[in-house]
Amino acid sequence: MKISLKLYRYNPEIDKKSRYETYQLEADPTDRILDILEFVKGYIDGTLSFRRSCAHGVCGSDAMRINGQNRLACKTLLRDLHGNKVTVEPIMGLRVIKDLIVDMDPFFENFRTVLPYLINDEPAPKTERLQSPEDRERFDDTTKCILCACCTTSCPSFWANDEYLGPAAFVNAHRFIFDSRDRAADERLKILSAQNGVYRCHTVFNCTLACPREIEITKAIGEVKRAISTGSLK
Ligand code: SF4
Ligand code: F3S
Ligand code: FES
Repeated sequence: MKISLKLYRYNPEIDKKSRYETYQLEADPTDRILDILEFVKGYIDGTLSFRRSCAHGVCGSDAMRINGQNRLACKTLLRDLHGNKVTVEPIMGLRVIKDLIVDMDPFFENFRTVLPYLINDEPAPKTERLQSPEDRERFDDTTKCILCACCTTSCPSFWANDEYLGPAAFVNAHRFIFDSRDRAADERLKILSAQNGVYRCHTVFNCTLACPREIEITKAIGEVKRAISTGSLK
């Protein structure tokens, strides 16, 4: 099929401001958007810049706005877009470094703020710290995060204020708050109840719609809010 591909372009060494470039291409409906970007880079314009690594929906590095919606380029087929016009832009709310590459530092700073690792200073047992299947199930959904930022950069609260910790940070806090082996839930809940925490979430749901791992993000945020208000992890 013939497609019209419109790409956001910005090279800070040359351009005073961003612009769009449009390419007319032949592509297959089963091509991924990542394949099409690789084609442009390999055969038309080697200066086109974007992040990618695994190409299989695992590393989370190729989040982009594709026809207005945050998605992973490697998990989006041309035929999913229902038409032959494709627009690819960088995710919103983070500074553009070049073309489709944004500065992810504020996103990862917010992630680190919620202490996204297991904290337990009790003496380690001889073998592993055991957990029942039911206790594991409690936070199973939020273990699936690949830190792609599709959620946080689709959230209006984050567009307005990049110090808002954002849904990806909340998902990763949830993953440890509800882990029966962890002992730092109170500390995390205190961080999450502060000014840029979960109460700046207004249940917009963009995050849940954008997540390529289909994590029920808004539900997880609701569980964190409930834990703060009730003081219970049940
Ligand atoms: Fe990406 Fe989903 Fe994790 Fe957000 S919660 S960073 S959308 S995988
Ligand atoms: Fe934003 Fe998701 Fe809440 S889009 S407002 S974090 S439900
Ligand atoms: Fe790794 Fe798409 S390149 S998730």
